[in-house]
Amino acid sequence: MSIFNSLSCSIFVALVLIGEAFLLSRAQDPSRLSLSYYSKTCPTAQDIVRSEMDCAVKTNPRNAAFMIRLHFHDCFVQGCDGSVLLDDTATLIGEKHADQNVNSIQGFELVDKIKEKLEAACPGVVSCADVLAIAARDATILVGGPYWDVPVGRLDSKTASVDLANSDIPTPQQPLATLIAKFLEKGLSVTDMVALVGSHTVGMSRCVNFRERIYGGDFQLTSKNEPSSQANLAKLKDVCPADGGDDNVSGMDYYSPTVFDNAFFETLLQGSGVLSSDQEMYSSLLGFQTSRIVDKYWADAALFFKDFADGMVKMGNITNPQGGEVRKNCRFINI
Ligand code: HEM
Repeated sequence: MSIFNSLSCSIFVALVLIGEAFLLSRAQDPSRLSLSYYSKTCPTAQDIVRSEMDCAVKTNPRNAAFMIRLHFHDCFVQGCDGSVLLDDTATLIGEKHADQNVNSIQGFELVDKIKEKLEAACPGVVSCADVLAIAARDATILVGGPYWDVPVGRLDSKTASVDLANSDIPTPQQPLATLIAKFLEKGLSVTDMVALVGSHTVGMSRCVNFRERIYGGDFQLTSKNEPSSQANLAKLKDVCPADGGDDNVSGMDYYSPTVFDNAFFETLLQGSGVLSSDQEMYSSLLGFQTSRIVDKYWADAALFFKDFADGMVKMGNITNPQGGEVRKNCRFINI
């Protein structure tokens, strides 16, 4: 009898532990994302993010660029799971150390601020990964870009991976075939890639990321000596000396770096894209498909907007199959 009792007790304890583990760390299936996920548990979630973003973008329009890029760097590593937001601890090395992130991605304090407001309204409900997805959409609208409905219900990871961040996030030096392969690996098409890179219509690049292009002869090669390109090259050289000034910045869209429009694609038509990876989409010998898409987006801003919105939803649907939790503080996993 006592053996039976202790056995049933062990089974009970095991079941409770499994149940708790399940509750604390739910698996993530992309089909779980829905537009109404927080409609009962946090009906004001979208309004809270929007009003914080409104204020932040009015104060500094580059905050919009920060949020769009953070969402991208989050989704390309383990899926959109807030892993990019994690700080180092004794047992975790954050993705902030990855080559494409270090000294580069920004906006963490803004995420903290939004999350604090959400925690005050609905504690433990809205994930950090969803904060990034909603904030990236709001950022886009606030600087003049398209609206899209953001499916929500993502979970936050309990892990981060610097190695995956180093291998999966594209770099500005990579050739077109590698860039395309990196997007295809994530289930994103060539059209998705060109449309999403179109977000370089806002924000800045550091000199260290385009020095080689402007002094190595590549820029002159693609620009075919058009006067506007020569003027752009001179501007870039002013910002970015051959030596030093690594962190000096230039807009990737010379004309309107704080407005979400299709002017970025014109820079590619002129051969004066700031990043080599951007120009590759128009000038690479393998760019027959991408250059046609660039032409179309320059001719038709509405098409660019539509494809960008669709691409952001697709990218946002990359979930982390490991599942996770709703972090209380986006920088640390829950204790
Ligand atoms: C071919 C793929 C891509 C490459 C190689 C690339 C590379 C870069 C680089 C090198 C910078 C400048 C960073 C710095 O100098 O610190 C940058 C900025 C930016 N990227 Fe990309 N990117 C790519 C795709 C994307 C995608 C898909 C998005 C969003 C959906 C995106 C959004 C942004 C934004 C908004 C900025 C400006 C950030 C700021 O102002 O701080 N990029 N990107």
